[in-house]
Parts: sequence; C-alpha cells; structure tokens
Amino acid sequence: MGSEPTTPSTAVGRLAGRRAVVTGAARGIGAEIARTFRDEGAELVLIDIAADEVRELAKALEAESVVADLADAAATAAATTEAIELLGGIDILVNNAGILKMAPILEMTIENWDLTFDINVRAMFVTTQIAGREMCANGRGTIINMASMAGKIGSPNQAHYAASKAAVIAFTRVSAMELGAHNVTVNCICPGYVLTEMGAATRTPEMVQAWSARSPLGRLADTADVAKMALFLASDDASYCTGQAMNVSGGMVMH
Ligand SMILES: NC(=O)c1ccc[n+]([C@@H]2O[C@H](COP(=O)([O-])OP(=O)(O)OC[C@H]3O[C@@H](n4cnc5c(N)ncnc54)[C@H](O)[C@@H]3O)[C@@H](O)[C@H]2O)c1
Repeated sequence: MGSEPTTPSTAVGRLAGRRAVVTGAARGIGAEIARTFRDEGAELVLIDIAADEVRELAKALEAESVVADLADAAATAAATTEAIELLGGIDILVNNAGILKMAPILEMTIENWDLTFDINVRAMFVTTQIAGREMCANGRGTIINMASMAGKIGSPNQAHYAASKAAVIAFTRVSAMELGAHNVTVNCICPGYVLTEMGAATRTPEMVQAWSARSPLGRLADTADVAKMALFLASDDASYCTGQAMNVSGGMVMH
C-alpha cells in the first residue's frame, strides 16, 4: 500500500465540502433542494426575495442568505457576487427561482411577459455568467437550472412561462457546450406538476385528480422527487452528464 494515510474529513455526505448557491430557496422546491444539499454536507447560501422566510430557513440550516429581487439584473449580479464571497468560492449553482402568473395569450400583458422572462431566464444568465467565470477559473463546477415539462410540451394559459422554460432548456445546452472545456457541467430539470405555492391559487381537487391520471405512476411529484434529481446532478455520480433536460414528471413526458 504505497499511498500516504489521509486525514478523515469531518464533513460527510455526497456533497461534503461543496459550496452551493440556491436561488428561490425560501420555500417550495428550492427550500427542499437546500435541505437535501445541507443533509449531504454542502455549505449553502440561499438567495430569495422573501426576506423573512429565507433568513429563517438559512438559520435552521446553518447557512447564509442573501435577499434580492432577481427581476433586477443589477441586484441579481450583486447577490451572486455576495453569495460567492460568503462561501469563498462556488462549486454548485442552482437556478431555481421562477414565477408563473397564468394568463391566456389574448389577455396577457407585456408586463407579465417581461417579468416572467426577467426572473425565469435573464436572472439565470446573470448568475451563470458570474458563477461560471469563477467555476471555469477553478476548473470544476456544476450548474443546475430549473426548467419545466411546460418547456417541452406547453400548457394553456402559460405561453410566457412555457416559452421561458424552453429558453431555460436552450440556455442550458449552450452553457454546457461553452463551459464543458473547463470541466463545468450544466443540466436542467423538467418537473411535472408539484404541489407548491406556485399555481395554488387556481388549483382545484378535480385538476389535481386529472393531472395525476396523466402519470403512469398515478400521482404528482412532491418536492423531494425534484430535490433528489438535483442532488444526483450536483453529485459526482453525474460527472459525465451535461446539457441534459431531465424529466421528473412521473412519465407524463418521455422525451
Ligand atoms: N410547482 C410546479 O408544479 C413546478 C413545475 C415545474 C417547474 N417548476 C419550477 O420550479 C421552480 C420553483 O418553483 P416552486 O414550485 O417551488 O415555486 P414557489 O412559488 O413555491 O417558489 C418560488 C421561490 O422563488 C422565489 N422568487 C420568486 N420571485 C423571485 C424574485 N423576483 N427574486 C427572488 N426570488 C424569487 C419565491 O420567493 C419562492 O421562494 C420554478 O422555477 C418553477 O418554475 C415548478
């Protein structure tokens, strides 16, 4: 056995010692990803507009938080830089923040369209540019973007949202092409319906039943289903996986 003995690390888990930034982490899918990553040993900074909630969760997870409105490009850049400084670098970026304000195309306002793209797409570009420079300089890193099955198959009253999520998928692919030479992987997740606050205002028990029937598994996703995919993509198990749009839709989408 010619190798030197190594000092055992005190950090345990599949993300031990990794420095991760999660956006939209105050609640829902982002909060579940934060909890899952923390359980697996990651150091975390949570970014969200919901100040009280994100601070409270960060405290519970012994993490840091940055309060920012990701609809504002300058604020997004400042928050990303601050998050990286707090961590002393970055290994994992999860672009999870997103909004959905349902409206049919014929009644959709320009403001609704623009806000959807500002948060769901432009913020992702801003964070990726800043974190990507850092990761490329380090020669390693991984970025996970939250798309949606709507980005692949569309959904009524969600033209802006579906188009923004298709843009997330395309942005993910180009990011993977450009950053791969620096050993940085970029993937996105396409969840099906997840029972979070998003869409809760218009959701009825009948709709939930009808959606569940569309899945061969006969149920909707919970936030843990999505967080487990994020964990896989963030871990070394996915080291040869890049540019992918991974469905977590219970088989509602198979391409
Ligand atoms: N819930 C679903 O069915 C579903 C399905 C597919 C994809 N997604 C995607 O998953 C991601 C998370 O969605 P969720 O279901 O957890 O939604 P959610 O509404 O429960 O959580 C969204 C989080 O993003 C934050 N956020 C919203 N606008 C922000 C802004 N301007 N600046 C900073 N933070 C902001 C919110 O405060 C919140 O913490 C989104 O990108 C969403 O599009 C959700």
